[in-house]
Formats: sequence, C-alpha cells, structure tokens
Amino acid sequence: MVRKLGHPAFHYSSVDTTMRRAAEHAREGCPEGTIVTADLQTAGRGRLGRSWVSEAGQGLYLSVVLRPTCRPDAAPLLALVAGLGVKDALEREAGVQCDIRWPNDILIRERKCCGILVEMDADSGRVDHVIVGIGINLNHLEFPSELADTATSLRIETGHAWATEAVLGPVLESLGACYELHRSEGVQPILGAFQQASSYAFGRRVIVEGLPQGAVGPRRGVTAGIDAKGQLLLRSDDGIVAPVQAGSVRPDPVTI
Ligand code: BTN
Repeated sequence: MVRKLGHPAFHYSSVDTTMRRAAEHAREGCPEGTIVTADLQTAGRGRLGRSWVSEAGQGLYLSVVLRPTCRPDAAPLLALVAGLGVKDALEREAGVQCDIRWPNDILIRERKCCGILVEMDADSGRVDHVIVGIGINLNHLEFPSELADTATSLRIETGHAWATEAVLGPVLESLGACYELHRSEGVQPILGAFQQASSYAFGRRVIVEGLPQGAVGPRRGVTAGIDAKGQLLLRSDDGIVAPVQAGSVRPDPVTI
C-alpha cells in the first residue's frame, strides 16, 4: 500500500519554487508522500522551461514527493496519473467538468485551470524520486493579456472564491488513489482512464509547439491514442502514426 500523500507537509509563505524545496527534501531522504506548499512562488516553473505566475491568494502551489519503484522509462506515465488525479478532485469538489490536454493540462471549457510539472531524479536504471508539481488557478478574476484567451480559474468557473485548503485535501486524495491504481495494476487502467477522460486522446487535429531543438517526431496531425509509455500518438496526413514525446499540444488552427 502506498503511503497517504501529504505527510509530512512543509508550508512556506514565500518560496522561489516548491519544486526545488521538494527536491531538497527528497535528496535528504524524506518519505514518499511528503508535500511542499507555498502561499506564493517568486520563480514558479512551468513545463518546457516556461515560468508559472504564482501570486499570493490566487492559486494552489503544491509539490509532492513520490518514490515509485518503476524503471525510469516508465516514470513519464506518472504525468498522466497526476492529470487524472487532479481532474477527479476538481470535478468532485468544485462540480466542474474538466478535460485533460495531453500530457496533463487540466482544462475547463477549453481553458487551462491547472498545470502539472513532473521532474524525475534517476540513475543507473533506478528512480530515486519523482516530484509532481501542481499549480491550480483558484481565485483569478482576470489574467495577463497573453493568457486572457486561454486561462481560467475555479473562481471564474464556479462564481466564488476558493481557499487552498478546500482543494488541497481532495487533490492529494485523488492523486493518491490514481497513483495506487498505477502501482497495483500497472499501465493499462491508467491508459484506459486517460483515453476516457481526455477529448484530446483520439480524433483531434492538433499541432505540437515548444519542441526542444533537434527533437524528432510529428508536429501536426490527428490524435490516435496513447502508447504504453504515455506518449501521444499522432497520425500525420501521410497516414504514418508516430509518438509525441514532449511539447505542447494545441488545436490546429489550420483545418484541411
Ligand atoms: C505547466 O507548465 O503547465 C506546469 C505548471 C506547474 C506549476 C506548479 S506550481 C507548484 C509547482 N512549483 C513550480 O514551480 N511549478 C509547479
């Protein structure tokens, strides 16, 4: 049985990023399930080298230390596990309908409400720890102009403000349940649940942005499921199906 997530808990009024603090605790040998939260982050990190704006009172900023026993190449699937956990928690607690955009952006009415960053520390075929960083937009009434058309918050969606404590418990509970499912039953139930939960898994025409330089793989196509490593499969217009390993998936504005 996996330890209940959330113990021990470290909270900071201000921190550069909960990811760094959680990694420090992990390297010092903290148990699985340790969490780090903060009222604000001065250098919040997003996927693909982006930043995550983290003002006080606006969001939940959480990092969770996991110590999976899987091989390093299986760990990326934890990104999907985390997305499933957060979607379940927000739907149960806030009564909103969420979608997951691969790998784990949580969307409400096609706008992003939560981002998840997964960082792994592994060597010689063994995972030491994985940090799952979760940022949930709680109380924003508006966003900076570059996000105004693509972001939302629980407050916008439900009409009332949210305390971080109201969301933290359900997120840890659902994340713990999905993590336990992955640990005890393996990849298949996670892939099945993800493909059910995400409108992006099949039949969406998308483009892939933010690929690292030199990355191989398709850049646009129609989504064709998720492979056993948790990679998104894309069918290009020439009919070839290939996995997307990284990047941001967006609806393709060019339809042919
Ligand atoms: C994304 O780009 O969508 C992922 C955003 C992840 C943000 C969270 S907030 C808590 C944790 N600390 C960070 O610096 N990043 C993650």
